[in-house]
Amino acid sequence: MTTAMELRSYAAPAGALADRVILVTGAGGGLGSALSLACAALGARIVLCGRRVAPLERVYDAIVAAGGPRPSIAPLDLERADASHYDALAEGVRNEFGRLDGLVHAAARPGERSPIEHHDVVNWLRVMHVNVNAPFILTRALLPLLRLSQTPRCCS
Ligand SMILES: NC(=O)c1ccc[n+]([C@@H]2O[C@H](COP(=O)([O-])OP(=O)(O)OC[C@H]3O[C@@H](n4cnc5c(N)ncnc54)[C@H](OP(=O)(O)O)[C@@H]3O)[C@@H](O)[C@H]2O)c1
Repeated sequence: MTTAMELRSYAAPAGALADRVILVTGAGGGLGSALSLACAALGARIVLCGRRVAPLERVYDAIVAAGGPRPSIAPLDLERADASHYDALAEGVRNEFGRLDGLVHAAARPGERSPIEHHDVVNWLRVMHVNVNAPFILTRALLPLLRLSQTPRCCS
């Protein structure tokens, strides 16, 4: 069995993700950008997905500057997206890459840290939509492309 210590000191071999196509939501944020850079450094082609384009462009530039495979930018507002936006995203990934090997849900809308009686109900619904419903819908929309991969992975 692998110990926690072994996991902490694990270093993936160079090129471990060569040619893998990985879509990362929240790719302009703290966790998403770090993941995108790390996966690109191992050879993955990253679909940088997020709400605001400027942070995605910064991650795009950092990947290219580090010599990683040229990523792709896919803006998507998980709070406002309807079926046509999810379909367009899936179609774009299909046209550019033909399949998807990995889906990382790193986008998140922070909730209120307060007792239930102080919660704003509309904000609660927005938080649940971005953090729970939207990842479900996105996974469902991208499932046909993940099924075309030999090694499909999805995590949040
Ligand atoms: N950072 C860490 O070390 C760490 C470690 C473990 C777990 N986590 C968890 O990972 C999640 C993200 O953390 P973080 O530190 O990366 O937060 P963050 O820096 O605030 O990033 C959140 C990301 O979510 C995106 N986002 C928010 N609302 C969105 C929407 N409606 N549509 C599309 N994208 C949306 C933001 O995009 P815009 O900027 O364009 O709005 C941003 O890129 C949180 O659940 C956190 O608890 C983080």
